[in-house]
This record gives sequence, C-alpha cells and structure tokens, in this order.
Amino acid sequence: MSKTYYLTTPIYYTSGSPHVGHAYCSIMADTLARFHRLIGDEVFFLTGTDEHGQKVEEKAQESGKSPQDYVDTIDLEFKALWKKLGISYDAYIRTTDQKHKLAVQKIFLKLYEQGDIYKKDYEGHYCVPCEAYWTDHQLDEEKNCPDCGRQVIWLKEESYFFKASKYADRLIEHIETNPKFIQPVSRANEMMNNFLKPGLQDISVTRTSVDWGIPVPFDPEHKIYVWIDALPNYITALGYTDEHDQLMQKFWPADLHLVGKEIIRFHTIIWPIILMALDLPLPKQIFGHGWLLFDNDKMSKSKGNVVDPVELIDQYGSDALRHYLLSKVPVGNDGNFTIDLFKQSYNTDLANDLGNLLSRTVAMQERYFQGVVQNCQELTEEDRSMSELARKTPEIVLSAMLVNDFNKALAAIWRLIDRSNKYIDENEPWVLARSEDKRERLGTVLYYLSENLRYIGVLLQPFMPETTPKIFRQLGLMGRTPLQTWQSLETYGRLPQGTVMVKEEALFPRIDLKNKKAEQNDRAKAQAGKKKEKDKGAAQKMETEKQEVETENILPELKPQITIDDFAKVDFRIAEIIACERVPKADRLLKLTVKIGETSRTIVSGIAEHYTPEELVGKQVCVVVNLAPHVFRGIKSEGMLLAASDDKDSKIIILEPEKRAESGWKVR
Ligand code: ME8
Ligand code: MG
Repeated sequence: MSKTYYLTTPIYYTSGSPHVGHAYCSIMADTLARFHRLIGDEVFFLTGTDEHGQKVEEKAQESGKSPQDYVDTIDLEFKALWKKLGISYDAYIRTTDQKHKLAVQKIFLKLYEQGDIYKKDYEGHYCVPCEAYWTDHQLDEEKNCPDCGRQVIWLKEESYFFKASKYADRLIEHIETNPKFIQPVSRANEMMNNFLKPGLQDISVTRTSVDWGIPVPFDPEHKIYVWIDALPNYITALGYTDEHDQLMQKFWPADLHLVGKEIIRFHTIIWPIILMALDLPLPKQIFGHGWLLFDNDKMSKSKGNVVDPVELIDQYGSDALRHYLLSKVPVGNDGNFTIDLFKQSYNTDLANDLGNLLSRTVAMQERYFQGVVQNCQELTEEDRSMSELARKTPEIVLSAMLVNDFNKALAAIWRLIDRSNKYIDENEPWVLARSEDKRERLGTVLYYLSENLRYIGVLLQPFMPETTPKIFRQLGLMGRTPLQTWQSLETYGRLPQGTVMVKEEALFPRIDLKNKKAEQNDRAKAQAGKKKEKDKGAAQKMETEKQEVETENILPELKPQITIDDFAKVDFRIAEIIACERVPKADRLLKLTVKIGETSRTIVSGIAEHYTPEELVGKQVCVVVNLAPHVFRGIKSEGMLLAASDDKDSKIIILEPEKRAESGWKVR
C-alpha cells in the first residue's frame, strides 16, 4: 500500500543568515519525511530559498556584493546548516534557478492571457518594508501596517493585478468542506473571519520599484512580485510547465505545506487561488506552526542564554537540538527557547533516560553474558505488560505523526524508555547475577530490555537520525536492516538470540549544570573518545552497581516508627504552580505561587538548581499545607513542596500526580 507523500518547507529568504527558527521548521519537515519513508511511503521532500526582492537587493549592496553573489553566499550557509542537522531533502529549489524563472514567466503569461491578470493604475496605503498594499479596513488601530506595525505611505503606481476576487467563493467553499485543509483549525477560522468573509481584494503582483526580480515577460520594467514568484516553487520544482513533468504527475497535489503561522495567509488564500486559476488541484494540507520565542530582552551573554544553532549543534550534537525542538515546543503554538531549558531536557531525557537505558543494558549484557543475547524464558505478568506497551507504541507514534504531533509521538517513545528503566530497577539484574539459579531469569530480563531498545531505536529513526545508528551498533544490529524496519515491530521478540552487543561511549554525556568549564571539558573528552576516561567511567559504574548489590536493597537509616495518627496530622494537598520566579541573590531558591482549590499562597523551595521557573509553571505538585510558615530571604513561605532526592541532594525530582488531579485534593 505504498503511497506518495509530498511535503515542503517554506523557501527561506536569503536576506540574512539562517537561525534556529528556520532550523525548527526544517527539522519538523525532515522528521515527517523520514517518518513517511520509514512507513514505506514514496516521499518527495522539497526545501529551498527565496532569493529575489528589495531586501536582498539592499543587503547585497550593504555587503558590497552583486545580488547574485550575495544570495549564493547565503544559500551555502543554509545548505551547510541543513547538512549539520541531517535535513534529508530530495530537492532544493532556488528562485534564481533558470528553470524556476522561466516557469514563473510562463505561469504569469498564462494567467494574463486568460484574463486573470490585468494592468491598472493603483494607489493605496503601502508599507515599504513589507512591500504590501493595505486597505483602510486592514490597517491596525493606529492606522499602521497590520503585519509590522510601521507607518504606511500613500503610493500610486502602475501595476499588474491578479483577480483573486473571482475565486473567493470557491475557496470559501473548499475551506468549509475540507476541515483538514488548514491546520491547526484555529488558523482556518482566522483566515475566514479576517480575510475571506470581509471580501477579497484583487492582489497587486508586480513592482516597478524593484530591480532584483523576475521580469514580466512582455513588460520587463515590471518585476513579478514576491508571492507570485515564491509560491509556485512548489510546482516548478516538480517540473510544472516542462514538457516532461513526471514528478508533477506523480506528486501533485502536495500532501503538506509546512509553514510558519505568519505566512499561512499567503498559503491558504493566494496560493490556492493561483492553483485554481491554473486549473490544478489544491494541496491537501497547509499546517501553520508557531514561533520560537527568544525573549530578546532577557537574552544576554552574561546569562548564557544566547541561541546560536551551529554552536549548539557543535557542542551537543544535532539530535539534541532536534529532540528539544520536537519534544518541547508545542507544535501549533509559540514556544520559548532558552539554553537553560535545552540543557535540562538534554540531561533528563537524553543523558539520563535514553543514554542510561542503553549504557546500563549493554554494560550488563557484557558483564554477565560477554555481550551475547540470551534466550527469552518464561514470562511474568510484568514482562507481558511491558512488552504489550512496546507493541502498542508504534500505533501511538503513527497516529500522532499523521496529524503532525511530534510532541505526542516522542512522549509515547519516552514512556517506553521510562518503563524500561523502571523494569531495570524493579528486577535488579545485579541481584539476580549473584545466584546461579537465577541466570535464566537474568538473561530474560536483559532480553526484554534489549528488545525494547530495538523498538526504541526503530521508532526514533525519524527524530534522531544521528543517534539511532549508534543505538543499533551497540545492540549488535549494525547493518542488519530487516531488524530496523517499521514492519519489524509487528512482532515483539525478533531480536535474535546470540546477537553480540558492544558497549561504546555514552550517547549523551551529561552536562554539568553547575560548572561551565567542566561542561566544555566533558564534551571535549567525550568527543575525543579518550579510551582511558571511558574505562574509568565504566569502572566507576561497576563499583556503584556492586555497592547496590552489597547493600541488598535495605533502606539505610530509617526514621523511628510513627502511628497512623501521627501521619494524619500532616495535611498534604494537590496544588498547581501558577507562577514562579528565582529569588534574587539566592542560587538555590525559587519563589512559587501555588493554587490550592480557590486559594493561592507562596512557597519558597530550594530547587532552583534543578528546575527553571518556566518548566514548573502549570505543573501539579503535592504540598504540605499545614506547616508553620517560615521566612526565607524576606519571603514568607507557607508550605512545602514534596520532592525526592538522593542523599547528597545532587538530584532532586519533584512529585507530580500520575494523572491530572483537581488542585486542592487531599493526598493520603
Ligand atoms: O517568509 N520561529 O521566508 P522567511 C519559528 N520567503 N519559525 C520560524 C522563525 C521563528 N522565530 N523564523 C522563521 C518567508 N521561521 C518567505 C516564504 S514560501 C513560498 C515563502 C520559519 O525566511 C517559519 O517556518 O521569513 C517561517 O514561516 C519561515 O521560517 C519563513 O522564513
Ligand atoms: Mg517571513
């Protein structure tokens, strides 16, 4: 049931260097492309650059280059970033490609000849930086440009116009009868109410004030204005207007145009109308993703939160950036990007959860069985429920990915990772290893972990393409492609007995959040792959595991016994963190505002080294509400947040209810 899947990113303006925002969109698109290849679709993934227009002309001038030289340089920067991020596009279009320019001219001519484009004198409110005309109705309250907020001027010029009004009714009907056409749905409502329902104006599609553009074939003083040049890239890249347009036959209409929310209007109004005029089918879906916010005010070198994608990738690897953006930025909404959050997520999700699961599993397989995967013996209830979770995960990932929900897909994979880590803790392989008659059980436990890791490796391929080959290599599955396919997840237990695992360096060396120097050193060491360090690390790990074996799971230093009445004196409640900030000049303290039922109160908590205010807001936690108040740094704290920690407090993890509860609920 192989089908085709055509998806596109916007073509990015070459008026400046690429940044994390561009990377965000391309990473999402790449993940979709890889996912559809994984499930067997024939994928065509298009990206490229939008290289004409006044801004490019100006930038070129500033840098003392010709526009063509200038865009050539920027173009290389984009391609270099895509290479670093593993963006697996099938075609790359530049609007300065000869082929594209000719096709755009043919399109323009066709529309002119059939009467959809006409020439007239035009005057109106014009925004120079945005190169756009606005009607009275569209200007904002201060009578400024609704896009950029700057002052508009009154401009009069001769221009070609596209009869958008002629197709408006058809478009409205299409949007109303195809709920998946514009996603998320909120954007569809916005387009209808703000632009379509009030009535579409004809659109000016040429400029005489710009030099750097495609000339109107029969009136070269006029340059084809950006959108009529840019939007058709999605079909010119497939060879539209060519004599041999097999790609067009095969892949049009596009399955998905992924774009930022600021250009959804062009993609859901102008583009469909151009296509209708060309008598071509409309794309199946336009998805408007949100923006990454950097909070410019707060960004400063001294705080260490400046975002440079290349630096991040060089330091932590491209998959760390991919993972962060795909799992932590809510897909249809805006999301905040800070270095702090990035590092937290790296340590928790990548170093701890995924990295440790692999290194613990492979290390134990090596230690106890010379790396050789054993047979899987009798199943416990727990084994069954865990393998059931593994088996169900691909379906969840599939349905999430079919609606572009990267967050949900990754959350499902991480549930399997968490479950597997828990399985290690529950089964204590190091204890099993002590008795000869538990060897079969030990082999089985490790088998389950390894097979789960195979599932995790297969599922993570679209998201983290640099890491998954490393996972397969350590599992002993390098080059064994039948065990890396989507189909191979149909039956649990495909991992062959006798496979030989080999431990390698950590996938994601931990970032030391307290010491920047140490962090750079760690990374340098990890990258140099110094064998000595590695052995030392392994030896330390073994030492800890040995200690775990020796303490035999007895909890040290228990407090004296209490009665149920003693316990009942403590009033524990579910609370929701509604605001949070750092306490000035106190490295460890956070000031939390929590809502408990209908009331709210302040709690000061010593967790600032482990959590950022941003990640706490919105969380539900468990608090002690009848503790005598205490003043920290002049702030009155009325209660205490429950958290778990190791005995050195080097890790602190706050307790959250397992499902969403009502704030104010009692905990007992
Ligand atoms: O608009 N957060 O190009 P462009 C998230 N050439 N995404 C961001 C972002 C941010 N802060 N900044 C940029 C153009 N993007 C036109 C498109 S298409 C026929 C022509 C992403 O360089 C986002 O996907 O301004 C946005 O739509 C795209 O880059 C726009 O890039
Ligand atoms: Mg833009």
